[in-house]
Amino acid sequence: MKKVRKAVFPVAGLGTRFLPATKAIPKEMLTVVDKPVIQYVVDEAREAGIEHFIFVTGRNKAVIEDYFDVQFELYDTLAQRGKDDQLAHLQRLQPAPGQTSFTRQQTPLGLGHAVWCARELVGDEPFALLLPDMIMQSETGCMKEMVELYERTGGNVIAVQECDPADAHKYGIVGKGETVHSGFEITAMVEKPKRGTEPSNHYINGRYILQPEIFSILEGQERGAGNEIQLTDAMLKLLKRQPFHGYHFQGRTFDCGSPEGFVEANIAFALWRSDMHERMVDLVDTLFADLTPAERGRKSR
Ligand code: UTP
Repeated sequence: MKKVRKAVFPVAGLGTRFLPATKAIPKEMLTVVDKPVIQYVVDEAREAGIEHFIFVTGRNKAVIEDYFDVQFELYDTLAQRGKDDQLAHLQRLQPAPGQTSFTRQQTPLGLGHAVWCARELVGDEPFALLLPDMIMQSETGCMKEMVELYERTGGNVIAVQECDPADAHKYGIVGKGETVHSGFEITAMVEKPKRGTEPSNHYINGRYILQPEIFSILEGQERGAGNEIQLTDAMLKLLKRQPFHGYHFQGRTFDCGSPEGFVEANIAFALWRSDMHERMVDLVDTLFADLTPAERGRKSR
């Protein structure tokens, strides 16, 4: 069985749910506490043993490439000022030389198309796919757990979580079969199912391990929901030829592509940090206690 060495990060989406911020800043560069969203996802991939990081970017996303570059003047200034801890911290976050690749999705035709754009960089081997606007909070990273499952089952692995059944029509949903090791067999997949047709309430949370055969399917994939080339539609075709297993992630997932998810992530990660925890608990309590009755009743501005 081939090892999962490479990870793909599709960062070419327009981020319309986060306008006006995304007029000038890629959503992946918005900061959760003090790190850009994309750093959390790269760290998760690194923890899972990933050796090569492939970014599918688009127009106005060049700052992501700059972010992962060495900032020589900054590093030099930190060293001269004796800020060794900060320098070491930056260097720990930095990918090693030659560990990153960048390609462009010239037109944002959908997630499936963005993944297909990485085909030459991935080549003929299984790869991890991490949607960078979904960030996770757990003791052990979601992708690390998925790689452990993959090493026992082979095939394809998708992480899922449970949603309120009333919300299932908003997500990519899988059908659940027999238990296999720490996961389960996936029997069906559908992107944004019509209400009443959902195979379960287990939604795909943005982490995948896929076999390279997905690329030839994506090559001819027609547009689906939202008039976009959907990864889920291509995976459904691959499901007829190869096994897919679900990994039920037990941690928290935040959709940082939406303002609500992003604010939740900031609060949750600040509470999670030992150097901020106490202050944040006080702050959240005080802010809520200080609301006037009128403010408590306010539903929208
Ligand atoms: P989203 O569904 O969040 O779409 O994409 P979006 O365009 O980024 O954001 P909204 O909905 O307009 O606010 C899920 C993931 O797929 C990537 C996005 O960057 C994100 O990581 N994506 C999506 C692409 O890379 N290319 C696309 O054409 C579409």
